[in-house]
Amino acid sequence: MTPGRDRPPTVLSELREKARTRLDPVHWDFFEGGAGTETALAENERAFRRLALLPRVLRGAGPADTAVTLLGDRAELPVVVSPTAFHRLAHPDGELATARATAAAGTVLITSMAATTAVAEVTAAARSVRADAAVWFQLYLQPAPGVTEELVRRAEQAGCGALVVTADSPVFGRRARDDHNGFHDLPAGLTAANMRDLPGAPPGGTRDIAMSPALSWDDLRRLRAGTRLPIVLKGVLHPDDARRAADEGVAALLVSNHGGRQLDAAPATVDALPAVVAAVGDRLPVLLDGGVRTGSDVVIALALGAAAVGIGRPALWGLAAEGEDGVAQVLAELRADVAQVMTLCGARDRGDLSRGQVVVRGQGTAPC
Ligand code: FNR
Repeated sequence: MTPGRDRPPTVLSELREKARTRLDPVHWDFFEGGAGTETALAENERAFRRLALLPRVLRGAGPADTAVTLLGDRAELPVVVSPTAFHRLAHPDGELATARATAAAGTVLITSMAATTAVAEVTAAARSVRADAAVWFQLYLQPAPGVTEELVRRAEQAGCGALVVTADSPVFGRRARDDHNGFHDLPAGLTAANMRDLPGAPPGGTRDIAMSPALSWDDLRRLRAGTRLPIVLKGVLHPDDARRAADEGVAALLVSNHGGRQLDAAPATVDALPAVVAAVGDRLPVLLDGGVRTGSDVVIALALGAAAVGIGRPALWGLAAEGEDGVAQVLAELRADVAQVMTLCGARDRGDLSRGQVVVRGQGTAPC
């Protein structure tokens, strides 16, 4: 252990520190920050620390198998890369580096509508590494006519395997760090590349990403009617919304509070997960993101019924610190850690984990 540290270093924490030293502090704040008092942001991680895994012994499980299947796509580890904006702010190779590293790790990249690289280039980069690489496209439903349709068309043409609709953003979250730093625009030379040449944009120009509190289930239904791609609804925390989403034909849910960047009073995602799984876990896969930093976090989420988890900031730390290789290190480390934790829990695969193995620290061993 390095003297002076209050916790042992990990691959992720070291990459995070390296990223911090490499990035412009204003961009670091953009990537790291959250909404309001950053309570939801901090709680996402803290909530995992409040939970413990009750291991099972002598089950003859053998080596762990970390692979899962998500909407027909095989992932070698139960960790996908959640959508995050502006990867070229983190590293000049931007989303291309993230795509190559994620494809090489054999898992799903959810590329953001707010990416600094167009979706077709992102899928091409992923497939240059692995012909069957899975890339899903995240979008915010756009209120202006024709814009969502054109984005969906581009995602379909690029060969994306799913649309991930982010529903937790009827308005932009208020991010005190960005306000303080006056960070509201991309630096010259970078654009939100998916927003180029959309209906309503000036010729050759980029449209702003719009958020609208008027959006409803009707808009989701229209989206569904206009695409053959499965839809993942991201940002669901309430079990009633989960039920409604299942009734509306959504293919999967992603329990998320946007990494604490939207509603600061939102619960930690791992605290919200059990009720969502209880509501719809038998009908569709439920994923989670927010605060996942270790293999234990991943295995806790799986034991609580998640089909897989997503990481946002950890991928950005890897990217900012060491580009493609940094993202690869993050995913390799999580895969190894998940395998280790599963084996220590007596589990061969996700199916061997159960909710009864997750307990609240300090409160005996009754299931959480
Ligand atoms: C995000 N997130 C996000 N989500 C989304 O649906 N579209 C987006 O464009 C972005 N952009 C974005 C930028 C940055 C810098 C961050 C940190 C996050 C949210 C993201 O998908 C995910 O929900 C969280 O990042 C998960 O939490 P952790 O892993 O960062 O703790």
